[in-house]
Amino acid sequence: MTVKERTAQVLEENRGKYISGADIASELGVTRNAVWKAVNILKKEGYIVNAVTNKGYCLSEKSDILSENSLRKILEPRYAANLKLMSKVTSTNTVLREMAVKGAPEGTIVMSPRQSAGRGRFENRRFYSEEGGVYFSILLKPDVTVQKSLMITTAAAVAAAESVERVSGRKAKIKWVNDVFVDDKKVCGILTEASLRTDGAGLDYAILGIGVNVREPDGGFPEEIKATAGAVLSENADIPDARSRIAGEIINRFFEIYLHPDSSDYVSEYKRRSLVLGKEVYLISVNGDEKREAHVLDIDDECRLVARLDDGNIVTVSSGEVSLKLK
Ligand code: BTN
Repeated sequence: MTVKERTAQVLEENRGKYISGADIASELGVTRNAVWKAVNILKKEGYIVNAVTNKGYCLSEKSDILSENSLRKILEPRYAANLKLMSKVTSTNTVLREMAVKGAPEGTIVMSPRQSAGRGRFENRRFYSEEGGVYFSILLKPDVTVQKSLMITTAAAVAAAESVERVSGRKAKIKWVNDVFVDDKKVCGILTEASLRTDGAGLDYAILGIGVNVREPDGGFPEEIKATAGAVLSENADIPDARSRIAGEIINRFFEIYLHPDSSDYVSEYKRRSLVLGKEVYLISVNGDEKREAHVLDIDDECRLVARLDDGNIVTVSSGEVSLKLK
């Protein structure tokens, strides 16, 4: 562990209490200057540390900490076992894919507070991944066909919507197939990437990637996504360790559905939270070059969209994207 990680651990163990720089330094066997430097880095990462002369450092109860310690308080131990928290990655999906190729076990999780090349669902689409959010990927090795893999994404959308709502107290909805919305703004995106078995008999593995905008960045979201992107928490929300709680709860809930698909009635929960059911929409094909007007009639038992096209034909759609028609 680095000095920063060990300093964080001491501060977290003493959360709400002052501890002197000298005491931390002697516990870690480093200089007071090294502790001071570590505290400054931690402050940039969401730790609210008050420093008072002659008293030392105190980690505020209000800090939004994303650390292995804070995650382990929420995550069920069996899901925390293969958790890799990285301070910065290109894309958690990309890092996890490299680990999958080398034989990482099912349930391996890569998580980060920021990504330098976060990817969205469609080719060339980036996913905004700056500080303020939480970004993670889960390695899955399900014994299902490619068709059934839509369930992974939709189960994740239900887990994300429920967890966002539980932690923030704000209503969360799902726009087919996997975008989570709060107050008409997208707060969470999901990207599932599958590797197929060479014998064509289903999936070798799937990587489920989830990104949540927990807090709006200083200065707001960039111009190009300002109209559509939102944050789970309002600016003054006072929810300690919100990123850890949201991520941890999503993972626990996702596995509950994934491991017990028959006993879970998540499809009705998916429908209950749907933003598109009964609405006039555009159905957009995967490559984006086809856009059809339709009325959404239903979401079936496999979370496919059942819609009536303008010419009266009824279609069942399992890929692509939907955009709501403005009235
Ligand atoms: C979308 O809304 O188009 C899907 C966005 C998925 C973003 C997540 S963040 C974690 C994982 N790593 C990525 O590069 N993308 C997914």
